[in-house]
Amino acid sequence: MDHKRALQNPIFGIVANAAKELGVDCYVIGGFVRDYFLKRGTPKDIDIVAVGSGISLAKKVASKLDGTPKVSVFKNFGTAMIKQGNLEVEFVGARRESYNRNSRKPVVEDSTLEDDQKRRDFTINALAISLNQSNFGELLDPFDGLADLEKKRIRTPLEPGITYSDDPLRMLRAIRFATQLGFTIQLESLQAITAHKERIQIISKERIVDELHKILASSKPSIGFTLLHKTELLSYILPELVALQGIEEKEGQRHKDNFWHTLEVVDNIAETTDNLWLRWAALLHDIGKAPTKRFHKKIGWTFHGHEFVGAKMVYKLFKRLRMPLNDKMKFVQKMVLMSSRPIVLSEDFVTDSAVRRLVFDAGEYVEDLMTLCEADITTKNPKKQRRYKNNFKQVRQKIVEVEERDHIRNFQPPISGEEIMTTFNLRPSREIGIIKEAIKEAILEGEIPNEYEAAKAFMLKKGAELGLSV
Ligand code: CTP
Repeated sequence: MDHKRALQNPIFGIVANAAKELGVDCYVIGGFVRDYFLKRGTPKDIDIVAVGSGISLAKKVASKLDGTPKVSVFKNFGTAMIKQGNLEVEFVGARRESYNRNSRKPVVEDSTLEDDQKRRDFTINALAISLNQSNFGELLDPFDGLADLEKKRIRTPLEPGITYSDDPLRMLRAIRFATQLGFTIQLESLQAITAHKERIQIISKERIVDELHKILASSKPSIGFTLLHKTELLSYILPELVALQGIEEKEGQRHKDNFWHTLEVVDNIAETTDNLWLRWAALLHDIGKAPTKRFHKKIGWTFHGHEFVGAKMVYKLFKRLRMPLNDKMKFVQKMVLMSSRPIVLSEDFVTDSAVRRLVFDAGEYVEDLMTLCEADITTKNPKKQRRYKNNFKQVRQKIVEVEERDHIRNFQPPISGEEIMTTFNLRPSREIGIIKEAIKEAILEGEIPNEYEAAKAFMLKKGAELGLSV
């Protein structure tokens, strides 16, 4: 069957002409072909494999394109790239060596297409479509990748141990593809991943995190984290999560399994937000529970202070994985730190002052925090489920009301320190701080509205109590 339909982008005709002039065969291969068969949206990049020099082909192609775009050459990898609008077109020479971007070995480009295909990660990524005049549009699929696409199966072209040893990142890629596509990893492959798990340590943190992001960004991230756990890769990547697994029982008292609970929370939040960092917060919201777990004869299991400990762990974890230690990390920390606050609220009668405090502390992230807490409801008891959801609805409603009235979110004290100083004729002193704090507390407690006149009257009263005169 011919697949010329996949080659409608004019770039393919140009590549085909350039290859013909150079007298080399070339093919489109990898993700582009896979996603064409999966009908999976617009492609971001196109990989071209040349039976010959990929770099020479890229240069020839560029010379034929409008404006002669720049060719970025990665000599060490034997690849070259051209940007065409939003698309990146990457060229590589067919190779017998593994397709390994990290390899420092010189690239040998003296192979056939099939040699190249069998050194790729998965059969579904080894599908190639010809760009040669003689068989333009023909699918070359020596490892039955198409059948695997149909059966939703992830399988390596070679014996899995070889493929994963060639590039251990592929262990994570297998799990990531399984998660993104809803595919099953073939049993032998899964066993090979488990057997080679410790080899993940030679892979750079950046590449590992890239895959974790993709798993978290998919519609059901628990598929990936379950596989990471089963293959024991998770112990090397996120041991803090592994530590949450298990249920202990003492004197007839059990606590829930916080690992499986966490995965449910992540799946829940994936249904309501695409914010990657909020998804990270869901993944990490309970990590402080392992180190804070205690058993008390009277009250059973407790995890006192786990939010605080968890927030500190977030920093260490981000640092270890070389993730950004910027506002994204601070956001995740804040979510973890505050993750129990709305829950406490929702279990009780919701007072205005408690809501004002929540909005004050969470600031601009209060909605994100509510989203996290709603995702945290994993009780299987329908009655409780309904009650919690209802209570959260009330909390959200109250947030809107309180916001309209009191504007707490980006709280700016209505009376400045300077005004306190001039009113009472004070030099910089402790009293100013005391009065400022008292005004803030009075507003949060709802004793006075968040308004200038009310705050001024309160300041005068407070000053008098402190023995200050105007
Ligand atoms: N590849 C490989 N081993 C790797 C990385 C990539 O064999 N560790 C091969 C696969 O044939 C893959 C192609 O290189 O299809 C391109 O890799 P990449 O652009 O990273 O991934 P895609 O398959 O295009 O998929 P996605 O864009 O979703 O990551």
